[in-house]
Amino acid sequence: MDLKIVILGPPGSGKGTQTERLCAELGFTKISTGDLLREAVRTGTPLGVKAKGFMDAGKLVPNELVMDLIKEKLKSVKGPVILDGFPRNLEQAEMLDKITKIDMAIDLEVNEDKLVKRLTLRRTCKDCNSVFHLEFNPPKVAGKCDKCGGELFQRSDDIERTVRERLRVYKESTLPLTNYYTKKGILKMIEGEGDIGAIYQRIVKAIKTK
Ligand code: AP5
Ligand code: MG
Ligand code: ZN
Repeated sequence: MDLKIVILGPPGSGKGTQTERLCAELGFTKISTGDLLREAVRTGTPLGVKAKGFMDAGKLVPNELVMDLIKEKLKSVKGPVILDGFPRNLEQAEMLDKITKIDMAIDLEVNEDKLVKRLTLRRTCKDCNSVFHLEFNPPKVAGKCDKCGGELFQRSDDIERTVRERLRVYKESTLPLTNYYTKKGILKMIEGEGDIGAIYQRIVKAIKTK
């Protein structure tokens, strides 16, 4: 069966890190609204122009902009899919249920005090979106992506003030989704602290026992 999984969790909880590995090792296709929006901003598309201000302020981009992206992507992918960073609020979750069936929601749990440090020292590959951390997961060569050799950069929303706003928005808008998926009986809570590989094994176990 081609699973459709959503991955929830606060900013910095490891959604991108874990999704990358699930795609590489278990054949999932990633749909990350954050990556797609950043690409749109970088290339200056009409969507990117509209989204940039919201992203730099740590706010959610308006639902209608994101829904169009998701609909288009879901149509074009085949096989098992992971949605990273989508849905982000109740309205998005309800809209998603109208266009496809979600089999599982993974919630990565990490204490808030850890998240700020994870994000302010994160570096992201401009070519393949792989993520690194200067202290916890450093690239082998400084400033270069291990996977593709691309240049690493610091996301414009990874400064402390914006990180704190993203955390506030998460609690207000996205955290209620854990309830939404619990009621549907498809939520899996995963301890998101500790070794990256150990967290990955917990997720794989949860998927395999699905
Ligand atoms: P998005 O790109 O989705 O960002 P986010 O949710 O804030 O999450 P992050 O990407 O910051 O964190 P992550 O959980 O992926 O962690 P990572 O694996 O990188 O969204 C950005 C913006 O786009 C939003 O603010 C909004 O404006 C807009 N947007 C996106 N989707 C939207 C939607 N659906 N609707 C409306 N607006 C939307 O890890 C973080 C760091 O920690 C890395 O450095 C990593 O190396 C390190 N790390 C990972 N795991 C561990 C570990 N176990 N121990 C130590 N360090 C670790
Ligand atoms: Mg991410
Ligand atoms: Zn790369």
